[in-house]
Amino acid sequence: MLRVAVVGSGPSGVYTAQSLVQQDPEVLVDVLDRLPAPYGLVRYGVAPDHEKIKSLQNNLRTVLEHERVRFLGGVRIGPGPGELPGARLRGLYHAVVYCVGAATDRHLGIPGEELPGSWSATEFVAWYSAHPDAVDDGFVAGVRSAVVIGVGNVAVDVSRMLARGPAELSPTDIPQAALTALTASRVTDVHMVGRRGPSQARFTTKELRELGTLPDTQVVVDEADLTLDPGATDPSTLPAAQRRNVEALRAWATLPPPAATRRIHLHFFRRPVALLATGGHVSAVRFEHTVPDGTGGVTGTGEYEDIEAQLILRSVGYRGVPLDGLPFDSAQGTVPHLAGRVLRDGTPSPGEYVAGWIKRGPTGVIGTNRPCAKETATSLLADAAVLVQRERPGDPLTVLRAEGLSPVEWEGWRSIERAEAELGAALGRSVVKLPDWTSLMLAARASATP
Ligand SMILES: Cc1cc2nc3c(=O)[nH]c(=O)nc-3n(C[C@H](O)[C@H](O)[C@H](O)COP(=O)(O)OP(=O)(O)OC[C@H]3O[C@@H](n4cnc5c(N)ncnc54)[C@H](O)[C@@H]3O)c2cc1C
Ligand SMILES: NC(=O)c1ccc[n+]([C@@H]2O[C@H](COP(=O)([O-])OP(=O)(O)OC[C@H]3O[C@@H](n4cnc5c(N)ncnc54)[C@H](OP(=O)(O)O)[C@@H]3O)[C@@H](O)[C@H]2O)c1
Repeated sequence: MLRVAVVGSGPSGVYTAQSLVQQDPEVLVDVLDRLPAPYGLVRYGVAPDHEKIKSLQNNLRTVLEHERVRFLGGVRIGPGPGELPGARLRGLYHAVVYCVGAATDRHLGIPGEELPGSWSATEFVAWYSAHPDAVDDGFVAGVRSAVVIGVGNVAVDVSRMLARGPAELSPTDIPQAALTALTASRVTDVHMVGRRGPSQARFTTKELRELGTLPDTQVVVDEADLTLDPGATDPSTLPAAQRRNVEALRAWATLPPPAATRRIHLHFFRRPVALLATGGHVSAVRFEHTVPDGTGGVTGTGEYEDIEAQLILRSVGYRGVPLDGLPFDSAQGTVPHLAGRVLRDGTPSPGEYVAGWIKRGPTGVIGTNRPCAKETATSLLADAAVLVQRERPGDPLTVLRAEGLSPVEWEGWRSIERAEAELGAALGRSVVKLPDWTSLMLAARASATP
């Protein structure tokens, strides 16, 4: 009987487990995660006000409750103290599939990037998603104007969250401290800025249009940015997705905007060159104006503009991090692979696989991970006859416990869910997420207490 470890319980890990048990009637799968809670970015990335997408957790849950799948949370694969080294993990299973996502953010590499008040969107998202590693810096305290650098869907998420009010946020599972801070926020202007043109923005039209539905918030687009973009001037030449984006932007640029308390400004053709400070804290971003270079890129004009901001969120994409004992392509931030089989020195390494963002890079929606995971599971099962020859001890969970690790099992996670429902009831809200390691682990261990 094949025993497989899947490292990471985000969409790619869960879809890998699903594909394995669907394709092989005997395989046993353990899904390990460094967190005591499953679902990866579906729990800790998808914005709290996107409740429909968040409800995909219910689909992922059915996989983790499958009779041949076990969730083992609170187990971090790594060389550090209290972690499980990759080589040890390999010894416990016939095969390991790494589905660890892309945990960190890309850098801009410009002066002032690390100033107080400048954060990656990753850090802001972690805070409002109650990730237990998040730092609470009072992101929005004293902020009137915020700049979001980048025009992808994460930039749209964080801009929208900055504009949301208590009526829309309190029914969600947002942690109480973030709800209190965002409710007290005095942010009136959010500037989302792209270095290229409107027709090259990475956001999707549904997410873009949603900005126009926010209560008491107007979307401001400068028609000059559309005029500068050859694609936006003649949208008939554009692929459908970009054409729809441009049409939405044009509608905002041409209609007289209604008066509102808050504004979301969408700027294009401005590339960040420096973050400026006053009194040791960010006060503005300096942008150089750009023009299209005719090949999809831009060139600088030598003209500069400062946009005032007391909060800067750098939303320029995520990045994979190297994992203990695995090869890593540092240019791409991914693990080299062939159809999901990890490549060592260009050769497939039997028993080691990847799926999801660590395999493809940090792009694609939740559903994109399903075919990606299926490809990997199919490769693994094609290798099964060789893999089952490997000697390995009995139940890996028994071995882990004997070595002093005590994974959070499914009942522990259910206990966290109950604690979050109880916290919500106590606060007069629905479910409210536990935001720190201590409360998560206390809740998880409560299931073990008679
Ligand atoms: C902010 C944000 C919002 C998004 N919103 C949407 C949306 O609304 N709709 C949509 O369709 N897509 C959305 N996406 C995209 C979607 O979340 C990704 O496509 C998807 O989560 C990638 O899946 P993954 O399993 O590769 O990675 P992840 O979801 O990141 O899962 C990786 C898992 O691995 C675990 N892990 C990492 N390292 C270790 C280790 N060393 N040991 C053990 N475990 C480890 C992590 O804890 C995590 O649980 C969003 C992405 C981001 C960044
Ligand atoms: N609701 C949803 O469905 C949802 C929500 C969130 C995320 N997601 C998905 O998750 C994935 C990641 O999203 P993302 O927004 O993090 O990444 P993304 O889509 O890759 O967008 C990154 C943005 O950063 C810009 N950028 C990169 N380097 C820059 C630099 N040095 N200076 C200025 N701008 C720079 C990019 O501009 P260039 O194009 O010029 O490089 C782009 O606008 C995407 O596939 C996204 O669709 C989906």
